[in-house]
Amino acid sequence: MTKQNYTDEINRIKKEKEVTIVAHFYQKDEVFELADFSGDSLQLAKMAMEDKNSNLVFCGVGFMGESVKILSPQKRVFMPKLACCAMARMIDGEHYDTSVALLEKQGIKKDDIMPITYINSSAAVKARVGKMGGMVCTSSNAKKIIEKALKSGKKILFVPDKQLGQNIARINSLSSCVIGDGKDPKDADIICYNGFCSVHQLFTPDDVEFFRNKYPGIKIVSHPECRVDVCELSDFVGSTSQIIKYIQDLDVNQKVAVGTEYNLVNRLREKNTYVLSSTKPECPTMNETTLEDLYKTLKSIEDGKPLNEVFLDEDTTKWAKIALERMFEI
Ligand code: 13P
Ligand code: SF4
Repeated sequence: MTKQNYTDEINRIKKEKEVTIVAHFYQKDEVFELADFSGDSLQLAKMAMEDKNSNLVFCGVGFMGESVKILSPQKRVFMPKLACCAMARMIDGEHYDTSVALLEKQGIKKDDIMPITYINSSAAVKARVGKMGGMVCTSSNAKKIIEKALKSGKKILFVPDKQLGQNIARINSLSSCVIGDGKDPKDADIICYNGFCSVHQLFTPDDVEFFRNKYPGIKIVSHPECRVDVCELSDFVGSTSQIIKYIQDLDVNQKVAVGTEYNLVNRLREKNTYVLSSTKPECPTMNETTLEDLYKTLKSIEDGKPLNEVFLDEDTTKWAKIALERMFEI
């Protein structure tokens, strides 16, 4: 089938079966172009909740489809690829329990811990966080959520992204540590789990220096999953949608180098936008979804034998929903 055939068929089935297609900004252009909604993790979760259609095809990574299912359990959520974010895979329920046990061993009582999980985590981790009185955050609201959590007077356990946790600590002049780094967690306001994004980890201070030397006056923009030393050197740090807005508001002649996933950066502006790297920072899991996969998913819905539907058990949904809803309340 040609690209046009796929596109026509996808649009036909979408209309006939009342399906909404949602895509994250990191999706391939061929998929992204067919989405009814696109956005950052927070926007996608909200949009999907408010959408009237009961069938939703989510083009992104596993935790995103799961979050929609948790927030709207009555909807049927399908994913063209059940691709799992590499960072989300770094922590499962058992790793979470082990981390809490380790902190208890180091003299921090469970009751004195306020857990916050980045949305890039499994439903099982979100549910554990919910049960312990904690909540979810995304890259666009992490600062606000942590500030609120600190008011509890408890220690923050931030999972799984150590970079996001440390970046928020830095801008709020708080102390932080990473589990296993040898520091005493009792001295830290924010205790981070040792997870990270393999894509955003690629950007380095040398890349910043290279672009600043090559193009004096260039703006450096990064995602808060980037290393702390990279964010520190950046002119702007924000979620994917915040990055897009910042760049759209710049003068067209303003050069900008961006530290985030390739598909997003490539789509931003024709001129004066660079990827903050000498390599191509593609997210392998986001890039797994193809136009053909999207077509096959829609066709399977039409044929009554849907592929890759997201299912979660009741208890996990209940507690993960509580953790997500606490975020929305803030
Ligand atoms: P955003 O919430 O900023 O879209 O980030 C999601 C993500 O996975 C970044 O790597
Ligand atoms: Fe996960 Fe990183 Fe890919 Fe985002 S870019 S989905 S954090 S692996």
